[in-house]
Amino acid sequence: MKPVQVSALVPGMILAKDVYQNNGILLLNEDTVLTAELITKLKFWGFSEVEIQETPISLKDQEEAAIAPQISAAHDRVVDITENMMSSGNAKDIDLNLLRGMVGDLDSQIELNTNVLLNLSHIKTHDNYLFAHVTNVAILAMIIGKELKLSEPELKDLGLSALLHDFGMTRINRDMYDKNKPLSPEEWLEIKRHPDYSLELLKESGSFSEAVLRGIHEHHERIDGSGYPRGIKGADIHLFGKIIAVADVYDACISPRKHRRRMTPYDALKNLLSQPNLFDIKILKSFVACMAIYPIGSLVKLNTGEIAKVIGINQGAPFRPEIRIYLDQNGEPVQPPIRINLFDGQYLQTYIQNTLEYEESEKVLEIIEKNQ
Ligand SMILES: [Fe+2]
Repeated sequence: MKPVQVSALVPGMILAKDVYQNNGILLLNEDTVLTAELITKLKFWGFSEVEIQETPISLKDQEEAAIAPQISAAHDRVVDITENMMSSGNAKDIDLNLLRGMVGDLDSQIELNTNVLLNLSHIKTHDNYLFAHVTNVAILAMIIGKELKLSEPELKDLGLSALLHDFGMTRINRDMYDKNKPLSPEEWLEIKRHPDYSLELLKESGSFSEAVLRGIHEHHERIDGSGYPRGIKGADIHLFGKIIAVADVYDACISPRKHRRRMTPYDALKNLLSQPNLFDIKILKSFVACMAIYPIGSLVKLNTGEIAKVIGINQGAPFRPEIRIYLDQNGEPVQPPIRINLFDGQYLQTYIQNTLEYEESEKVLEIIEKNQ
């Protein structure tokens, strides 16, 4: 371990100690691999030096560091705490201060790493879908809220509402929503009661604002009135309900479930955009504007037939990320792989045709690894 001036940091260096904000909130974990973006943030926060590990990591690992360990750690923490707090289904077990602290923590992580957080499909999956899901929905809802320029207190309330949005599910037999086959009509009716259960349980505690409760109660309502539990329409649905609806459906689409195929982020976005009668169009547009349509680490097929991995996002140009081409049009490895930025004028003729499905991605990743 050695202290290094922040002005002398270079991407790829690894933190030897946690970095905290003055108020005690953890900003970066020990073992975080520094990226250019993180170094800029450290300067912005006013740190003069940090402790760095002696052994730097390879360039390849820097790229893999896109799925930053501190995000996984923050994500895991929230999943664990929500699970502990909410499993009982008793509103009395909810520690509001702790929940608010976690929302603040997620907020800091979003500030730091939006691009990576958007790549939720790469965060490790958890045994308990429900609590990983509510954590993902809270992150996505807050990203949308930021894009919509909500105030800080509104954002925090939105995060809280999203973390609690499926609280009523704890009243429903877990086998029902975790099971391997489609639901029977009776089971489906029971599932549809969960927003009412949530409201009933949380309202009693008297700890939550009307906005938080409405976000929870109305996240399955749809613009055309086809949602549940009340079938209310358009302007009658609270903004939080509309935001959580988009985040909820998106995360459900990209998450691996037992009973159906998981979608790629690109297909999940297409799916949402194809249903403007169900979701608020302004929210959908904000979501697409801040989404990494091709998240870092995803494999894509180019119009040239080559296969490449997304290695960087260009803000404001979500369709034209930085990529590294690994396979040529005949599926043969490109040695060494070619790095290009689709945002550069010289590559205007090149574009991404589609993302690879998960099964296909795994095969390609095997070939890539074999040739490294
Ligand atoms: Fe729900």
